[in-house]
Amino acid sequence: MVENKSIRLALFFGGVSSEHEVSCVSAAAWLRALGQSPCAGRYDVTAVGITKEGRWLRYTGPTDRVADGSWQADTAHCAPCLLSPDRTARALLVQEDGVWKEQPVDAAVPVLHGKNGEDGTIQGLFELAGLPYVGCGVLASAVCMDKAVANTLMDAAGVPHCAWCFALRADVEADADKVLDMVEAKLPYPIFVKPANAGSSVGISKARDRAELRKAVDVALAEDDKVVFEEFIEGQEVECAAIGNPDDPDTVFATHPGEILAGAEFYTYDDKYKNGVSQVLIPARLDAAKLDEVQALARRAYLALGCAGLSRCDFFVQKGTGRVLCNELNTFPGFTAISMYPKLMEQEGLSFSALADRLIQLALTKRKGAY
Ligand SMILES: Nc1ncnc2c1ncn2[C@@H]1O[C@H](COP(=O)(O)OP(=O)(O)O)[C@@H](O)[C@H]1O
Ligand SMILES: [Mg+2]
Repeated sequence: MVENKSIRLALFFGGVSSEHEVSCVSAAAWLRALGQSPCAGRYDVTAVGITKEGRWLRYTGPTDRVADGSWQADTAHCAPCLLSPDRTARALLVQEDGVWKEQPVDAAVPVLHGKNGEDGTIQGLFELAGLPYVGCGVLASAVCMDKAVANTLMDAAGVPHCAWCFALRADVEADADKVLDMVEAKLPYPIFVKPANAGSSVGISKARDRAELRKAVDVALAEDDKVVFEEFIEGQEVECAAIGNPDDPDTVFATHPGEILAGAEFYTYDDKYKNGVSQVLIPARLDAAKLDEVQALARRAYLALGCAGLSRCDFFVQKGTGRVLCNELNTFPGFTAISMYPKLMEQEGLSFSALADRLIQLALTKRKGAY
């Protein structure tokens, strides 16, 4: 146990990704949890908001304005802010009255989803700054963000995954028909088409024929330079919450899965965060042996992809065959009131505040340079 008293945390939220708004809602939930037992009094929290344009602002206003996104308009409580990469400083630099002042920090909490938050980039800055941080390191963050790389590693590690292939923008520009031929030779319709790096279902579509496949490629390429094609899996969508540091594998734990009941044909961004149409069932509607199988696979996938701190491990259980197939790992999953990760942990007896405390402890005790 690391002595918690007056641990200075920098909590980052917002960001330039398509999941900016979700991050704000997740961050508000974190800020509230950090004010409750067992966190209350242990942590001295500084919130750092990143605008959609990529401006960094220390924010000292009400938490409700973080949740609803109006924090940026609260200029009286916003001050320009940077994280120094100078590891002898280990400090935020905050501009007050035109003067940059150092504000020392002990650990970082990147409550950021998607590009520049969950993909290893900000984790790289924390590494440069010598600052412990919650969640996966640079490599696992980057690997899990890129669906083509994650699928390749899952295949190598024997983590079951659906049939898939990928193409680069350059391949499509050189000869789109050749790419479509390659995909059609490997996968039957319907085919799921995704940008390799995006998140929250942005740029994803389901193609039923060659014309739709061609269109879907352009939709995906609008988000990223790499596009992933997958066999369509009909079945249940289930997710496990995993926690722990791999340098102490006995502490790595994955919950039994919960189940997503999608409102639309597939689990879309609006379903996830806006409509409230998708529902979460805990535990998933599976028999005891299947619940155990998914749980064990989640732990295996987490270790295979080199995760640390936390990740949500998402699976399909195929209708008819009962095959369990890993879809993806999310290294900083949603932490909103309707989010699966904190709900699954709550079922294990960890309140949001106890979970936040545990994740910060894992950040502070993670062995340096191990992964
Ligand atoms: N191979 C697939 N078969 C069936 N449905 C899929 C497949 N891949 C993705 N989906 C659906 O699309 C949603 C988003 O895809 P996912 O790969 O999880 O991307 P994101 O990173 O945007 O969450 C999933 O939650 C699921 O509903
Ligand atoms: Mg997903």
